[in-house]
Amino acid sequence: MPPEPDRDLAAMRREYEDRGLVESDLGADPIIAFVRWHRDAAAAGLHEANAMVVSTCDGPVPSSRMVLLKTVDRRGFVFYTNTLSRKGRELAANPACALLFPWHPLERQVRVEGTAEVVADEEADAYFRSRPRGAQLGAWASPQSEVVTGRQFLADRYASEFDRFSDVEVVPRPPHWSGYLVRPHTVEFWQGRPGRMHDRLRFGRVDETTWSLERLAP
Ligand SMILES: Cc1cc2nc3c(=O)[nH]c(=O)nc-3n(C[C@H](O)[C@H](O)[C@H](O)COP(=O)(O)O)c2cc1C
Repeated sequence: MPPEPDRDLAAMRREYEDRGLVESDLGADPIIAFVRWHRDAAAAGLHEANAMVVSTCDGPVPSSRMVLLKTVDRRGFVFYTNTLSRKGRELAANPACALLFPWHPLERQVRVEGTAEVVADEEADAYFRSRPRGAQLGAWASPQSEVVTGRQFLADRYASEFDRFSDVEVVPRPPHWSGYLVRPHTVEFWQGRPGRMHDRLRFGRVDETTWSLERLAP
């Protein structure tokens, strides 16, 4: 028997509070504004406030998944992953990508569109060194995005990496594991408001240091 459709979904809606967002709230630099909003999300105790959806596309259908933001600075947004994974392969074919930060309890989202590039080896090495040993071994053991025969396959791979590095103090970074820096072209800040009259402010890159700012209809 197929499950009953969830009829409650259509009725699930809530009224957004009147927080509001005006141009002067954000200032002239979207990275600085992002850092402020991210701090708000962390201060509000949001679960994994640095989790973001990354969308990539190298063909007719885009693909999306969550990753963790590990650095945000002047250059843009950095996350770490397996470069041979689906996302890695799609970014190699087409570096254009989109990021989404869904901060529901604050009635906020941030959307980023930009271009991804693999970070320098030294940057990836430094972050890899900071990870717990288990995560380092996992990066060696998991052929991310490949179809596998079962859990045992992965357990065996992990055990074999565990043994291989048992006498090694510093686990080296796998060649297929690195960071992607997403350099933004646009950054949109969304704040929910009553009556679905939400605020949307979108920065567009003019040059290295200058951004335009436009208001979009909700
Ligand atoms: C909250 C959350 C955080 C995640 N963070 C990462 C991450 O930082 N890096 C990563 O490779 N996968 C991360 N994942 C797993 C990815 O969503 C995804 O399953 C994996 O990267 C394979 O994606 P792909 O096959 O599209 O390349 C995370 C998943 C969740 C739910």
